[in-house]
Amino acid sequence: MSFEAGIYQLGGNTIAMHTSELQLGRGETIGDTARTLSRYLNGIVIRTFSHLTLEQFSGNSTIPVINGLSDIHHPCQALADLMTIHEKKGGFKGLKVAFIGDGNNVCNSLIEAASMMEFDLAAACPEGFEPDAGVLDNAKSFAKSNIIVLRDPMDAADMADVVYTDTWVSMGQEKEAEAKKKKFQGYQINSRLLSCSKKDATVLHCLPAHRGQEITDEVMDGHHSAVFDQAENRLHTQKALLEMLIK
Ligand code: NVA
Repeated sequence: MSFEAGIYQLGGNTIAMHTSELQLGRGETIGDTARTLSRYLNGIVIRTFSHLTLEQFSGNSTIPVINGLSDIHHPCQALADLMTIHEKKGGFKGLKVAFIGDGNNVCNSLIEAASMMEFDLAAACPEGFEPDAGVLDNAKSFAKSNIIVLRDPMDAADMADVVYTDTWVSMGQEKEAEAKKKKFQGYQINSRLLSCSKKDATVLHCLPAHRGQEITDEVMDGHHSAVFDQAENRLHTQKALLEMLIK
């Protein structure tokens, strides 16, 4: 929705399609679909599960290919996160951001953002749900800020300027939902956890939120929450990205 609305606002048109509506659903290779669509369109946003699909598509495309979410990365979300942090905190350097929960696509892209924009990031994840090791090692190898993965959410939230969470069950992981819910007990942003962070901490959530699981109603709707500003910023940052890539 944020991409389609943004494209219309910029004066463009969109064609939204599910895999089953493309020739991909009939056995065409990703490379051939990329070559064909490159002849019709000015750009493409792909939301998929396997990141490899995106790489295969962009490797064969002659138009900009935007990652609208994959199992490993969610860079458009990170752009909106950065805009929101900048709006609320006035910059990045010296900030501590705490990410609580699943070391998922959103967490991976936030790690990359932390290394580029030089803010500290502490991610608290249950055992077995840490961020992607390749993303983490690469980000740490050139980061000037501290990027750490911890077990205890309280340690991560300690004196944090921003406290961030995301759904425990990402797209494509629906079968793991029950097992994950058990593992993630305790990884919730609630007022107790928030009391460890700075008094003026900003709360972020990528959405969709599962109220009562990774975040309480009280925090989601409370005065620390910038969740819907963050959602709005998807629209603005993606429009900027489109302008940069297509103009
Ligand atoms: N981590 C979430 C983000 C949803 C927009 C997922 O992949 O489902």
